Amino acid sequence: MLRIPNFFSCLLIFASIGCDRMPGKPTVATPVAIGSSAWTQSTFDTNCRGCHSQGAEGAAIPLIDAGYWKVATDAQVIQVISHGQGVLMPSYLESNGGPMSAEQIAAFVKGMRSLWGAGSPGGQGGISDVVVAGNADAGAHVFASACASCHAAGGSAGSVTDPMYLKLISNQGLWSAIVYGRAALASPAWNEPMPNHPNGLTPTEVADVVSWIAQARPVSPANNQNASNAK
Ligand code: HEC
Ligand code: HEC
Repeated sequence: MLRIPNFFSCLLIFASIGCDRMPGKPTVATPVAIGSSAWTQSTFDTNCRGCHSQGAEGAAIPLIDAGYWKVATDAQVIQVISHGQGVLMPSYLESNGGPMSAEQIAAFVKGMRSLWGAGSPGGQGGISDVVVAGNADAGAHVFASACASCHAAGGSAGSVTDPMYLKLISNQGLWSAIVYGRAALASPAWNEPMPNHPNGLTPTEVADVVSWIAQARPVSPANNQNASNAK
């Protein structure tokens, strides 16, 4: 009695395997169109995810995050991917020894914004194209009123004026860390209202506090972030 269903299921298995799966037939990978979601995701997973991810994962700013795409513009992100930033962020443009053409980088940034940008065009929050040199003396006051409660010596959030930390992060990186924050690490975003700062910080105040923090960076010819940011 059981033989009839078994016979049918054998037929079904055979039909579902079909002739495409005959032994020895080479598998042809489906080409993934440049700019498609699948291409964007796999480009990100291969090249970026180890450092930039989401939430608290990753050492660098998360890119799977609508908050970042709200602040950054496509032009800024294309610039950073093409030419790198500081000592840790590599450059990906072919003419800089990287693996991607300018067209691929542009399509990649467009793809990331459409996957994770929640429809925002970016540019909200006063992030500047170039970190302007601020006034360090004014920055000392900004730090005292806005940052010291968490970042002073012995504070809950750790030092941001540690010379070795500052050797690794550029002024642009400090700027983004301040303006955009990192919600999953309880690091506040200063383009939003904060206690005692109902409008957050102005771009000038951010530039000033970055200049004040950067004074603690040791100047060395090998990785002089102050020089590379003095645009
Ligand atoms: C309410 C507490 C709080 C305040 C106020 C605050 N921060 Fe932070 N900040 C944090 C926390 C928490 C982190 C994440 C620390 C971690 O786990 O890496 C952080 C991270 C940072 C980082 C990034 C460190 C890194 O990992 O690269 C910078 C830079 C920074 N803060 C600067 C500032 C500046 C400048 C101000 C003042 C404008 C400020 N913060 C105000 C809590 C605070
Ligand atoms: C080896 C780790 C690493 C890899 C891999 C990496 N990044 Fe970065 N990236 C960083 C670090 C660290 C910074 C901050 C550098 C600084 O400012 O000093 C950064 C900065 C950035 C910034 C600027 C953030 C800001 O606003 O200041 C963008 C955008 C960015 N990376 C995108 C990418 C993309 C896209 C990829 C993949 C193509 C990638 N990164 C690969 C480590 C990495």
